[in-house]
Amino acid sequence: MQSLRAAITAVGHYLPEDRLTNADFEKMVDTNDEWIRTRTGIRERRILKDPTKATSFMAANAAKELLAKRKLDPKEIELVIVATVTPDMFFPATACLVAAEIGATNAWAYDISAACSGFLFALSTGARFIESGKHKKVLVIGADKMSSIVDYTDRTTCVLFGDGAACVLLEPDTQGYGLMDSEEHSDGSQWNSLCMLGGGSLNPPSAVTIEKKWHFLHQEGQPVFKAAVKGMADVAAAIVERNQLTGDDIRYLVPHQANLRIIDATARRMGVGMDKVMLNIERYGNTTAATIPLCLADWEAELRKGDNLILAAFGGGFTWGAAWIRWAYDGTGA
Ligand code: UT7
Repeated sequence: MQSLRAAITAVGHYLPEDRLTNADFEKMVDTNDEWIRTRTGIRERRILKDPTKATSFMAANAAKELLAKRKLDPKEIELVIVATVTPDMFFPATACLVAAEIGATNAWAYDISAACSGFLFALSTGARFIESGKHKKVLVIGADKMSSIVDYTDRTTCVLFGDGAACVLLEPDTQGYGLMDSEEHSDGSQWNSLCMLGGGSLNPPSAVTIEKKWHFLHQEGQPVFKAAVKGMADVAAAIVERNQLTGDDIRYLVPHQANLRIIDATARRMGVGMDKVMLNIERYGNTTAATIPLCLADWEAELRKGDNLILAAFGGGFTWGAAWIRWAYDGTGA
């Protein structure tokens, strides 16, 4: 018997139906399809247009899909973690709203704020509760309604982001599957390269913060790009080398979907071809905490027990990390 590990045993997702295409953006700001595709790899993104619905709505729908697929009683869930930078409100935690909505009345619930690395950080945190023996069913969700903090007059950021949610169920495994290794980092010294200045205790909402557009996401693309290329490639390579994995051992690289060029650099550094990279940035853009689990949802049907996946992300904070997962089940049925 191998040591107790946290295995992903089910996946769920939710994407809003409305799409914003590059052609739509050509009518909104001074941009063009060619620039967006060649600089980012994005063609369209999903947008949650209903103003009465927020991140918890998408997260709960993703969780409901997972519960239905596994025919699970929500009362069996012991912990719900939601990674997001677009919570429905400051408090209560979006995870509390999700747990109530899905009927996970026996679970405790909290949010994790780590921007684009949020899902990886939440996965690592949730895994500890399985590995320690404290819990047998942990729901880890990545969800963001980025359209709620994007300035649709700023061409440098508005074309990048989309809305979505996806989740995984973590359960104990002693057969050698699950989260094998992970590495997490953060460095707050460049916090202002990617942030939302207003609305917190530093700059509480006011007429001034609205006028200065501090209620919108702010990104200095170039410094973030440079840090992301290095951070994501370094941490993915570290996991691979530490565990003596080669490109041949890896079934898929599952990268955060911020920019095709960053993903390409990470894959090259790891020695895996783009045929082994999960890519859906073209269809969804950057959904922040949801990108990695959305990839798992899109590729779930073709994954097989024993497949080695390397998850990697970089985002605001800065935060970055990678994880090695040995997939625990075949296709869509656990
Ligand atoms: O997910 C969290 C982490 N975030 C990231 O990893 C994102 C990292 N950064 C990036 O992916 C890239 O920096 C961007 C995609 C945001 C921008 O690409 P870039 O190649 O770094 O472009 P740039 O910022 O250097 O801008 C080049 C030019 C500028 O014009 P000038 O000054 O050369 O005349 C921009 O004003 O492209 C211009 N530009 C645009 N042009 C058409 C910026 N946005 C657009 C646009 N359409 N949407």
